[in-house]
Amino acid sequence: MRETPTVMTPSTSAARIAIVTGGIGGIGTEICMRLAETGRQVIAVDLATRGERIEAFREQVASYHGAIRFEPCDVSDFKACGGLVEHIERNIGPAAILVNAAGITRDTSLRKMDPQQWHELMRVNLDGVFNMCRHVVEGMTTRSFGRIVNLSSVNGQTGQFGQTNYSAAKAGVHGFSMALARETARKGVTVNTVSPGYCDTPMVAAVPHEIRQQIIADIPVGRLGTPADIARAVVFLTADDASYITGANLPVNGGYFMSF
Ligand code: CAA
Repeated sequence: MRETPTVMTPSTSAARIAIVTGGIGGIGTEICMRLAETGRQVIAVDLATRGERIEAFREQVASYHGAIRFEPCDVSDFKACGGLVEHIERNIGPAAILVNAAGITRDTSLRKMDPQQWHELMRVNLDGVFNMCRHVVEGMTTRSFGRIVNLSSVNGQTGQFGQTNYSAAKAGVHGFSMALARETARKGVTVNTVSPGYCDTPMVAAVPHEIRQQIIADIPVGRLGTPADIARAVVFLTADDASYITGANLPVNGGYFMSF
């Protein structure tokens, strides 16, 4: 059980509006709560069809007294993302922070993968990042402030058996972050990637038990990550004074993958 959160009065620049896609998911929910605890006004974005989970999420964040609200949107739909950003900017205020955490898996070896398993995943995990960034970037650069964090994965850095689709999309996410970081670097907008390792979430719980146990045995820190481990990195990169970190890929994986 979490302690009652301390929510800062949103009266300073800390009150900036943060949009979190995949906001009611395993990692997204924690990101929303941690951002709200630093005074952000958080909009959790997720599929309207996740009825029971939306209700549970609303109960989970009730103690944040409106600092976290839910807005339905399918990130794979370009027009819907445009409508969402317009709605937020007209009714709540300018989007200052965007965290793209929406992601799905369609694990199977390539020889069994059908085009639908490829395209469904690409539409959410990679198109979703484009769709949301495309609609916020103009406003952020015009206002000379923005913090974008795209969630990739250790499996975008190493590849994983059964994840040609996921690994390709997640590697693509960081390429996207680096390119956009260059385009916005002189306009007060940073764009970074956070690459989680295996975390204690429903997505990882779906990995067959024996494979999961082997993965945990290979993590130097000796445990799965927690959503809080990932949210901490996101809070760090979205801080107002994190203005000199851009185009970076921050691995949060318990040492599972190390690179020079
Ligand atoms: N490494 C090596 N060989 C493997 C293997 C692995 N990880 N997994 C299966 N195999 C072998 C099997 O032993 C089998 O061998 P034989 O043909 O000799 O019997 C063969 O490969 C099975 O191949 P299939 O084509 O039948 O594989 P499949 O379509 O059944 O898929 C799988 C297997 C479901 C993908 C399974 O490997 C798996 O679940 N792997 C883990 C995937 C994974 O880690 N997903 C991460 C999800 S969480 C996430 O993505 C979050 C994040 O960012 C970290």
